[in-house]
Amino acid sequence: MAAKHESAVMGIDIGGSGIKGAPVDVERGVLLEERLRIPTPQPARPKAVAGVVADLVRHFGWTGPVGCAFPAVIDDGVMRTAANVDKSWIGTDGRELFERRTNCRVTLLNDADAAGLAEMLFGAGRARQGLVIMLTLGTGIGSALFMDGHLVPNTELGHLIVRGQAAEKRASASARKEQALPWEKWAGHLDEYLHILEDLLNPKLFILGGGVSKKHEKYLHYITADTPVVPAEMRNDAGIVGAALAAK
Ligand code: BGC
Repeated sequence: MAAKHESAVMGIDIGGSGIKGAPVDVERGVLLEERLRIPTPQPARPKAVAGVVADLVRHFGWTGPVGCAFPAVIDDGVMRTAANVDKSWIGTDGRELFERRTNCRVTLLNDADAAGLAEMLFGAGRARQGLVIMLTLGTGIGSALFMDGHLVPNTELGHLIVRGQAAEKRASASARKEQALPWEKWAGHLDEYLHILEDLLNPKLFILGGGVSKKHEKYLHYITADTPVVPAEMRNDAGIVGAALAAK
Protein backbone atom coordinates (compact mmCIF):
# COMPACT_ATOMS: atom_id res chain seq x y z
CA MET A 1 0.00 0.00 0.00
CA ALA A 2 1.46 3.33 -0.99
CA ALA A 3 0.90 6.28 1.29
CA LYS A 4 -2.69 7.05 0.17
CA HIS A 5 -2.66 10.41 1.81
CA GLU A 6 -0.04 12.44 3.57
CA SER A 7 -0.99 11.25 7.02
CA ALA A 8 -0.11 7.58 6.37
CA VAL A 9 3.33 6.39 7.49
CA MET A 10 4.50 2.86 8.22
CA GLY A 11 5.73 2.34 11.78
CA ILE A 12 8.04 -0.53 12.81
CA ASP A 13 9.08 -1.38 16.36
CA ILE A 14 12.19 -3.55 16.61
CA GLY A 15 12.45 -5.42 19.91
CA GLY A 16 14.50 -8.26 21.36
CA SER A 17 11.83 -10.90 20.75
CA GLY A 18 9.58 -9.46 18.04
CA ILE A 19 9.59 -6.97 15.18
CA LYS A 20 6.15 -5.40 14.75
CA GLY A 21 4.80 -3.06 12.14
CA ALA A 22 1.73 -1.52 10.54
CA PRO A 23 0.72 1.51 8.51
CA VAL A 24 -0.30 4.32 10.87
CA ASP A 25 -2.58 7.31 10.52
CA VAL A 26 -0.27 9.85 12.13
CA GLU A 27 -2.98 12.49 12.44
CA ARG A 28 -5.11 10.24 14.67
CA GLY A 29 -2.40 7.97 16.13
CA VAL A 30 -4.15 4.76 15.06
CA LEU A 31 -3.09 1.72 13.06
CA LEU A 32 -4.67 1.57 9.60
CA GLU A 33 -4.32 -2.21 9.37
CA GLU A 34 -3.83 -5.06 11.79
CA ARG A 35 -0.19 -5.08 12.83
CA LEU A 36 2.12 -7.92 11.83
CA ARG A 37 4.64 -9.37 14.30
CA ILE A 38 7.60 -11.44 13.13
CA PRO A 39 9.93 -13.06 15.71
CA THR A 40 13.29 -11.29 15.91
CA PRO A 41 15.94 -13.47 14.21
CA GLN A 42 18.54 -14.90 16.60
CA PRO A 43 21.25 -13.75 16.58
CA ALA A 44 19.69 -10.37 15.83
CA ARG A 45 22.49 -9.11 13.58
CA PRO A 46 21.95 -6.13 11.23
CA LYS A 47 21.55 -8.14 8.01
CA ALA A 48 18.99 -10.56 9.47
CA VAL A 49 16.97 -7.80 11.16
CA ALA A 50 16.98 -5.71 7.96
CA GLY A 51 15.59 -8.77 6.16
CA VAL A 52 12.61 -8.86 8.54
CA VAL A 53 12.07 -5.09 8.18
CA ALA A 54 11.98 -5.59 4.39
CA ASP A 55 9.50 -8.50 4.82
CA LEU A 56 7.18 -6.27 6.86
CA VAL A 57 7.31 -3.49 4.28
CA ARG A 58 6.59 -6.02 1.52
CA HIS A 59 3.74 -7.62 3.48
CA PHE A 60 1.87 -4.28 3.49
CA GLY A 61 2.92 -3.50 -0.10
CA TRP A 62 4.31 -0.30 1.36
CA THR A 63 6.23 2.27 -0.71
CA GLY A 64 5.85 5.42 1.44
CA PRO A 65 7.92 6.69 4.37
CA VAL A 66 8.89 4.29 7.18
CA GLY A 67 9.74 5.05 10.81
CA CYS A 68 11.72 2.46 12.80
CA ALA A 69 12.13 2.31 16.58
CA PHE A 70 15.22 0.50 17.84
CA PRO A 71 16.60 -0.08 21.38
CA ALA A 72 19.80 1.96 21.13
CA VAL A 73 21.17 5.48 21.04
CA ILE A 74 20.75 6.53 17.41
CA ASP A 75 22.58 9.46 15.94
CA ASP A 76 21.58 10.49 12.42
CA GLY A 77 20.61 6.92 11.48
CA VAL A 78 23.69 5.30 13.06
CA MET A 79 23.38 2.98 16.10
CA ARG A 80 25.80 4.09 18.79
CA THR A 81 25.08 1.61 21.62
CA ALA A 82 23.80 -1.94 22.04
CA ALA A 83 22.86 -2.60 25.67
CA ASN A 84 20.36 -5.41 25.09
CA VAL A 85 20.95 -6.13 21.39
CA ASP A 86 23.70 -7.74 19.31
CA LYS A 87 26.94 -5.77 19.70
CA SER A 88 27.51 -5.82 15.92
CA TRP A 89 24.96 -2.98 15.69
CA ILE A 90 27.38 -0.47 17.19
CA GLY A 91 28.52 1.84 14.41
CA THR A 92 26.05 0.36 11.88
CA ASP A 93 24.34 2.89 9.62
CA GLY A 94 20.87 1.45 10.16
CA ARG A 95 19.15 4.01 8.00
CA GLU A 96 21.34 3.27 4.99
CA LEU A 97 20.90 -0.48 5.52
CA PHE A 98 17.09 -0.36 5.91
CA GLU A 99 16.65 2.08 3.00
CA ARG A 100 18.66 -0.19 0.73
CA ARG A 101 16.63 -3.27 1.73
CA THR A 102 13.18 -1.59 1.61
CA ASN A 103 13.57 1.03 -1.13
CA CYS A 104 11.68 3.36 1.21
CA ARG A 105 12.74 6.53 2.99
CA VAL A 106 13.53 5.44 6.56
CA THR A 107 13.72 7.42 9.80
CA LEU A 108 15.31 5.70 12.80
CA LEU A 109 14.95 6.60 16.46
CA ASN A 110 15.35 5.15 19.93
CA ASP A 111 12.45 2.88 20.98
CA ALA A 112 11.62 4.72 24.21
CA ASP A 113 11.74 8.05 22.37
CA ALA A 114 9.24 6.61 19.88
CA ALA A 115 6.90 5.35 22.61
CA GLY A 116 7.19 8.71 24.34
CA LEU A 117 6.27 10.65 21.19
CA ALA A 118 3.09 8.58 20.89
CA GLU A 119 2.19 9.07 24.58
CA MET A 120 2.79 12.81 24.44
CA LEU A 121 0.55 13.29 21.41
CA PHE A 122 -2.17 10.70 21.91
CA GLY A 123 -1.76 9.17 25.39
CA ALA A 124 -1.01 9.96 29.02
CA GLY A 125 1.18 12.99 28.21
CA ARG A 126 -1.34 14.84 26.01
CA ALA A 127 -0.95 18.63 26.32
CA ARG A 128 1.39 18.29 29.32
CA GLN A 129 3.80 21.19 29.74
CA GLY A 130 7.09 21.29 31.66
CA LEU A 131 9.36 18.29 32.03
CA VAL A 132 7.72 14.89 31.45
CA ILE A 133 9.72 11.66 31.80
CA MET A 134 8.47 8.54 30.09
CA LEU A 135 10.09 5.27 31.20
CA THR A 136 9.55 2.00 29.37
CA LEU A 137 9.92 -0.98 31.68
CA GLY A 138 10.74 -4.01 29.57
CA THR A 139 13.91 -6.05 29.00
CA GLY A 140 15.78 -2.86 29.91
CA ILE A 141 14.53 0.56 30.95
CA GLY A 142 14.19 3.10 28.18
CA SER A 143 13.69 6.80 28.82
CA ALA A 144 12.21 9.68 26.87
CA LEU A 145 12.38 13.26 28.13
CA PHE A 146 9.99 15.95 26.97
CA MET A 147 10.20 19.64 27.72
CA ASP A 148 6.94 21.44 26.87
CA GLY A 149 6.17 18.56 24.51
CA HIS A 150 9.57 18.69 22.76
CA LEU A 151 11.67 15.52 22.82
CA VAL A 152 15.22 15.62 24.16
CA PRO A 153 16.41 12.50 22.25
CA ASN A 154 18.68 9.64 23.25
CA THR A 155 18.57 9.92 27.03
CA GLU A 156 19.63 6.67 28.72
CA LEU A 157 18.24 7.05 32.23
CA GLY A 158 17.83 3.28 32.54
CA HIS A 159 21.59 3.11 32.88
CA LEU A 160 21.76 5.38 35.92
CA ILE A 161 23.70 3.55 38.63
CA VAL A 162 21.63 2.69 41.71
CA ARG A 163 23.26 0.67 44.53
CA GLY A 164 26.17 -0.20 42.24
CA GLN A 165 24.03 -1.47 39.36
CA ALA A 166 22.36 -0.02 36.30
CA ALA A 167 18.77 0.87 37.27
CA GLU A 168 17.46 -1.41 34.51
CA LYS A 169 19.07 -4.42 36.19
CA ARG A 170 16.91 -3.81 39.30
CA ALA A 171 13.71 -2.14 38.15
CA SER A 172 12.95 -3.37 34.61
CA ALA A 173 10.14 -5.84 33.96
CA SER A 174 12.68 -8.56 33.17
CA ALA A 175 14.56 -7.92 36.45
CA ARG A 176 11.32 -8.67 38.31
CA LYS A 177 10.77 -11.89 36.39
CA GLU A 178 14.36 -13.14 36.32
CA GLN A 179 14.94 -12.50 40.02
CA ALA A 180 11.41 -13.70 40.87
CA LEU A 181 10.85 -10.52 42.89
CA PRO A 182 7.49 -10.13 44.62
CA TRP A 183 5.61 -7.04 43.33
CA GLU A 184 6.21 -5.09 46.53
CA LYS A 185 9.96 -5.69 46.46
CA TRP A 186 10.25 -4.83 42.78
CA ALA A 187 8.08 -1.72 43.28
CA GLY A 188 10.54 -0.72 46.01
CA HIS A 189 13.38 -0.82 43.47
CA LEU A 190 11.30 1.20 41.03
CA ASP A 191 10.33 3.70 43.73
CA GLU A 192 13.94 4.22 44.80
CA TYR A 193 14.86 4.87 41.17
CA LEU A 194 11.98 7.35 40.69
CA HIS A 195 13.04 9.23 43.83
CA ILE A 196 16.58 9.61 42.43
CA LEU A 197 15.24 10.83 39.09
CA GLU A 198 12.92 13.36 40.68
CA ASP A 199 15.67 14.64 42.98
CA LEU A 200 17.94 15.17 39.97
CA LEU A 201 15.48 16.36 37.32
CA ASN A 202 12.33 17.65 39.08
CA PRO A 203 9.84 16.50 36.44
CA LYS A 204 6.14 17.35 36.45
CA LEU A 205 5.06 13.83 35.51
CA PHE A 206 6.35 10.27 35.13
CA ILE A 207 4.69 8.03 32.54
CA LEU A 208 5.39 4.31 32.94
CA GLY A 209 5.19 2.24 29.78
CA GLY A 210 6.22 -1.22 28.61
CA GLY A 211 4.18 -4.41 28.99
CA VAL A 212 4.15 -4.08 32.77
CA SER A 213 2.15 -0.82 32.54
CA LYS A 214 -0.92 -3.00 31.98
CA LYS A 215 -0.45 -4.46 35.47
CA HIS A 216 -0.14 -1.09 37.21
CA GLU A 217 -2.74 -2.02 39.85
CA LYS A 218 -0.18 -4.50 41.21
CA TYR A 219 2.49 -1.92 42.03
CA LEU A 220 1.50 1.74 41.62
CA HIS A 221 0.15 1.89 45.20
CA TYR A 222 3.66 1.12 46.52
CA ILE A 223 5.12 4.19 44.80
CA THR A 224 5.87 7.10 47.13
CA ALA A 225 7.55 9.55 44.72
CA ASP A 226 6.19 13.09 45.05
CA THR A 227 5.87 13.50 41.28
CA PRO A 228 2.62 12.14 39.81
CA VAL A 229 3.16 8.70 38.22
CA VAL A 230 0.70 7.45 35.59
CA PRO A 231 0.61 4.34 33.39
CA ALA A 232 1.05 4.74 29.64
CA GLU A 233 -2.20 4.64 27.69
CA MET A 234 -1.04 3.55 24.25
CA ARG A 235 0.06 0.06 25.33
CA ASN A 236 1.47 -2.27 22.70
CA ASP A 237 1.18 0.08 19.77
CA ALA A 238 3.11 3.05 21.22
CA GLY A 239 6.40 2.10 19.54
CA ILE A 240 4.79 1.60 16.12
CA VAL A 241 2.78 4.83 16.30
CA GLY A 242 5.72 6.83 17.64
CA ALA A 243 8.09 5.50 14.98
CA ALA A 244 5.61 6.58 12.32
CA LEU A 245 5.24 10.00 13.96
CA ALA A 246 9.01 10.51 13.80
CA ALA A 247 9.00 9.79 10.05
CA LYS A 248 6.07 12.10 9.32
C1 BGC B 1 18.83 0.74 25.93
C2 BGC B 1 17.96 1.88 25.46
C3 BGC B 1 16.55 1.37 25.19
C4 BGC B 1 16.02 0.62 26.39
C5 BGC B 1 14.64 0.03 26.14
C6 BGC B 1 18.20 0.07 27.12
O1 BGC B 1 18.98 -0.98 27.57
O2 BGC B 1 20.12 1.22 26.29
O3 BGC B 1 18.50 2.49 24.31
O4 BGC B 1 15.71 2.45 24.89
O5 BGC B 1 16.89 -0.42 26.76
O6 BGC B 1 14.63 -0.89 25.10
